[in-house]
Amino acid sequence: MKIASICVHGAKDKNNTTGAVAVPIYQSATFSHPGVGDTTGYDYARVQNPTREPLERLVASLEKGAQGLAFTSGMAAVDAFMGLLAPGDHLIATSDLYGGSVRLFNVLCQRAGLVVDYLDTNNQSLLAKRIRPNTRAVFVETPSNPMMMVTDIRAVRKTIGPDVLLVVDNTFLTPVLQRPLELGADFVLHSGTKYLGGHNDTLSGFIVTNHLEYAERLRYITKTVGTGLAPFDSFLVIRGLKTLHLRMERCQYNALETAKWLTSQPKVKKVYYPGLPEHPGHALSQSQAEGFGAMISFEVDSAQTAENVLEKVNFILYAESLGGVETLITYPLLQTHSDVSEEKREALGITDRLLRLSLGVEDLEDILKDLAQALA
Ligand SMILES: Cc1ncc(COP(=O)(O)O)c(C=O)c1O
Repeated sequence: MKIASICVHGAKDKNNTTGAVAVPIYQSATFSHPGVGDTTGYDYARVQNPTREPLERLVASLEKGAQGLAFTSGMAAVDAFMGLLAPGDHLIATSDLYGGSVRLFNVLCQRAGLVVDYLDTNNQSLLAKRIRPNTRAVFVETPSNPMMMVTDIRAVRKTIGPDVLLVVDNTFLTPVLQRPLELGADFVLHSGTKYLGGHNDTLSGFIVTNHLEYAERLRYITKTVGTGLAPFDSFLVIRGLKTLHLRMERCQYNALETAKWLTSQPKVKKVYYPGLPEHPGHALSQSQAEGFGAMISFEVDSAQTAENVLEKVNFILYAESLGGVETLITYPLLQTHSDVSEEKREALGITDRLLRLSLGVEDLEDILKDLAQALA
């Protein structure tokens, strides 16, 4: 089936005896055994539960991968991946990265004896130079958060060779627009809190891989730690995924039109959106993705203007997240990237004049009207 049909029909309850169209919420912590040494396939909900399991299969099939795992949040997914590494391992990550991933890498991983290096993962000669004998993995976010830098996934695979693990955070584009496993990644990771869930009502995270052995190790981690997604949250993400393809189409339309409009606003100095032909990652995006997504960052003329916009927006919400049906505006400096060092923020362009928009599915005219009055 094509992606749109998988979104709608991809989650199936294998225990269905009633004809229920929706996968039920199996709100049970434990499962009784038919006999000694016998199992229904479910024993204890930390290990697996019958609402999470179809969701994991659904996300795996959307990403064209063999195995999917659903976590309590995107960060729980990143942390589980880090559990595959050992003390002394070297990790390379995209320099412009979601601030929570930077916090996890800097604080928790360095404490665990892992060495983390940040660089522009689209600079292949630099990347080749930084590979060390102990480099275990490269962690790529593309487009990156919040500067919308695009990394060539195929080129990274070629540069790092077959032995270094390639992880791609696909939160911004979703499998509707980009499928990193088909481009050479070993793992694709998501904050399902964003577009996959799509309604700003639940946290979730995902990892999909074709490496069965690593998938088993990840399952061992979730079963041991208890970071698998709960039944109710799994239900909400299954429901959200049914309209993922439609939401992406509408969000992306709103984003492209809003990006074009922003470029003509006197108080807007720069617009970062790969869908604009002048964006340095425009052609590359076209070569590896089926769209540009619905995230825009833009720089205004002063910190005062940035503050005014955040204070004055009406139905556009000043909130930290993205990927839902509601249009959100974020101040990366104080919100998503507050834990990134000032020096690094300055180097990347995350200033007190930078704002980030996650376009929702509202009427475009209303979005532009709200932005216009906030910028006035
Ligand atoms: C690109 C990206 N990856 C991962 C995460 C972490 O996900 P979660 O908030 O679900 O833990 C986020 C959260 O904003 C994100 O934007």
